Amino acid sequence: MKTNPLYHMKNKLLAANWKSNKTKFEAKDWLVEISNYEFPEGVEVILFPPSTLLDVVSGYVRVNSMPFKIGAQDVSPFGPGAYTGEVSAEQIKEFADYVLIGHLERRVNFSESTDMIIKKIDRAISVGLTPIVCVSELKELSGLSSSRIVVAYEPISAIGTGEAMDPNLVEDFSKEIKKINIQNVIYGGSVNSENVKNYLSLPSVDGLLVGGQSLDPKSFADLIKNAV
Ligand code: PGA
Repeated sequence: MKTNPLYHMKNKLLAANWKSNKTKFEAKDWLVEISNYEFPEGVEVILFPPSTLLDVVSGYVRVNSMPFKIGAQDVSPFGPGAYTGEVSAEQIKEFADYVLIGHLERRVNFSESTDMIIKKIDRAISVGLTPIVCVSELKELSGLSSSRIVVAYEPISAIGTGEAMDPNLVEDFSKEIKKINIQNVIYGGSVNSENVKNYLSLPSVDGLLVGGQSLDPKSFADLIKNAV
């Protein structure tokens, strides 16, 4: 039986989604610079580099005993085989423990359907990856009732806009999500070092998904420092 690292999550999860940013050298510079900062107890930081960097980032983190977990930004809905351009769950599992699934940018730019997202979740779970499934609306929760996934609530109006969602609304939405047997809910959308506490102090929010503010090591280190 493969273990799922989030079944009894005590720490606040901080996920850094680099999207299609950074070359190998830029990623190494980021890792070197962030190692100058101390991090508080009580947070679990997961880096989501692009798939080209999973090997180098996970290797660097391991060799230098850095306090980071690794995740991929997407996974193939198929197993290993003749699926040109796809990266299978088995390939990701060599480097990572987590995977983002159904990010808004994939739903919009690559027409990802609920069916496709459910296939990806099944594939991820089958190899022991923890899926972090992104939803922007309650209707996207359909078919997602599972204690084995984390749900990231990411309102469309907040992603990459600098207009983070009202924390009261985030709490209401997170509570709704937990009613369907989801144990861990995180929030994403314009999180920064100033507003991080507003979300992490919410009773139903277990962590944050950070995009833009994770690209610069100092901004991300400030955000982590203010998290607890
Ligand atoms: P943002 O992105 O922090 O830049 O708003 C969040 C996300 O897309 O996951």
